[in-house]
Amino acid sequence: MTFHPKNILLFGATGQIGSFILSSLLTARNEFNRIVIFTSPGTASKKASLLSDLKTKSNVEIIVGDITDENAIREAYNGIDTVISAVGRDALQYQIPLIALASSHPDVKWILPSEFGTDIAYSPASVNEKPHQQKLKVRAYLEENQEKGTLGVGYTYVVTGPFADYYLRLIPEEQGGGWDVARRKGVLLEKGNEVSLTSMKDVGTLVLETLRRPDVAMNRALKVNSFTTTPALIQKEFERQTGGEAWKDVSEISLARLRELETAAWEAGKPYATVLTLRRIWTEGGTLYDKRDNGLIGEPPMVTLEEMVAEEVKRAGQV
Ligand SMILES: NC(=O)c1ccc[n+]([C@@H]2O[C@H](COP(=O)([O-])OP(=O)(O)OC[C@H]3O[C@@H](n4cnc5c(N)ncnc54)[C@H](OP(=O)(O)O)[C@@H]3O)[C@@H](O)[C@H]2O)c1
Repeated sequence: MTFHPKNILLFGATGQIGSFILSSLLTARNEFNRIVIFTSPGTASKKASLLSDLKTKSNVEIIVGDITDENAIREAYNGIDTVISAVGRDALQYQIPLIALASSHPDVKWILPSEFGTDIAYSPASVNEKPHQQKLKVRAYLEENQEKGTLGVGYTYVVTGPFADYYLRLIPEEQGGGWDVARRKGVLLEKGNEVSLTSMKDVGTLVLETLRRPDVAMNRALKVNSFTTTPALIQKEFERQTGGEAWKDVSEISLARLRELETAAWEAGKPYATVLTLRRIWTEGGTLYDKRDNGLIGEPPMVTLEEMVAEEVKRAGQV
């Protein structure tokens, strides 16, 4: 009999990307019997009203527990066929035990580990990139056990590239690039180089469409996106949507300069070094493919650059 996910457990469901994944699953609430979220006591008390609404309005089950408590995880997996992890970077290392427990649990059939970003196996150089190390360990665990025949679950890596929502905003470390609509300021990273972006809302849609097609999505990476563009085109679109005048405060950062800034940030132990590495990878073309995989999961409608820029202009109170 063909497997169709019906009972979903989500880790990190109220986090940055987890909340978009959960919202998307809730648009298809009737396709699932159970949607369960496993969350920490800290979040349960900080986000009590959100969790209460999820429970009463959307029939979401809430389990409060410690992600490192094996008994609690085993119990949470009872009756669950599909596990989605959207845990943040600081919790990526907890995923191997979560996968091991899923693998040995009779009910769990499929796991989507916390990826939702840069392709960590893009090229031979990817294996040395510092921000990829925890996610690489997760993939190695899954693939080595699959090869040995000791993996009791299927897996899918949903690889979305950078979130468009963040890419369009000027980050505090301005050398990392981005746009500030209110200040009419743009910092363009190697302005002619293409980058593939996915909006956070589209990440949710793409995860839902992945769940709808286990036959094609199982045991592989799906490399998906909303659109491909360049910093120069983004700048042009911001100017078009803010009256058509050229912005006065626009600067450019070359790839060579970005690499220098990245090296200096790692040497000085700056917390934003990870961000600069990721932006350098994106600027080098590490998000680009001859063909994206959206078609494999039904080519769902995706947001356009024009719509993302319009949202950002609106967010900045500029319309
Ligand atoms: N493509 C991009 O541009 C981009 C940008 C950001 C993130 N991402 C990726 O998206 C995934 C999720 O990241 P996110 O930023 O959405 O995550 P996040 O909001 O920082 O965290 C999500 C959840 O992870 C759990 N968590 C975080 N730190 C923890 C810790 N130290 N111990 C235990 N649990 C912890 C928490 O769950 P509870 O609420 O249950 O406590 C939290 O709500 C990651 O793989 C990340 O690399 C991609």
